[in-house]
Amino acid sequence: MAEIVIVHDEAAAGALVADEIVRLIGADPATVLGLATGSTPLPVYEALRPRLHGVDVSRVRGFALDEYVGIDPAHPESYRSVIAREVVEPLGLDPSRIRTPDGSADGIERHGEEYEAAIAEAGGIDLQILGIGTDGHIGFNEPGSSFASRTRVKTLTEQTRRDNARFFDSIDDVPMHCITQGLGTILRARHLVLLAFGEGKAAAVAAAVEGPLTASLPGSAIQLHPHATVIVDESAASHLARADYYRYTYANKPDWQGI
Ligand code: F6R
Repeated sequence: MAEIVIVHDEAAAGALVADEIVRLIGADPATVLGLATGSTPLPVYEALRPRLHGVDVSRVRGFALDEYVGIDPAHPESYRSVIAREVVEPLGLDPSRIRTPDGSADGIERHGEEYEAAIAEAGGIDLQILGIGTDGHIGFNEPGSSFASRTRVKTLTEQTRRDNARFFDSIDDVPMHCITQGLGTILRARHLVLLAFGEGKAAAVAAAVEGPLTASLPGSAIQLHPHATVIVDESAASHLARADYYRYTYANKPDWQGI
């Protein structure tokens, strides 16, 4: 199963993941990162900033998980803009090495395959950062998504559109469709790191980690992965039946093991 790490706060989670990313880049300057958007990964990007001072990031590559379909790429809430603003610019990454799925309607039926080919050509994703939706989605793989799915267009649930309305003027402005890496795409990354903070995520986290493996809860797909790390704060951990065991395991973890 996934390793569950319960931390005090978001900053502690960000530091853990950032340390691992810096270690990866030190070992391989051409590390390929899988980048999530939304609020959850922000502490990771913040923690990376000081840690990357003096680190050569010129060969680091990155692939965003998803993008809204039909949104103007220049819109401040397009994931292309978010990745540029929150990741590429502050961390000094080379914009030509960071990709977001193309959400423009023109040729959308081909974009998924092109994206898969680009990930394969980069050698696959070394570390995939994930958040989780309140309905259990990872990427934008909404409930019912196949565990074998690849990058493709999906329809966002009403719940996800409501959750994401905070980034827009109103729910009516939240796009109806998205293009997202599939669950099968995500499962091919070499290391999955799923983060969740706050009580609102507690039910989804417990279902993903301790519930049955089911397409009805796409986050449960991480149970299939040989190296998945779930980092949660106390509130997001509050529905976990075996929280004490996870704390005990982590407290007794051998020093030589990273996350
Ligand atoms: C974003 C993504 C989504 C979010 C999820 C949680 O790229 O793939 O799965 O991680 O919707 O969103 P936040 O972090 O805003 O709560």
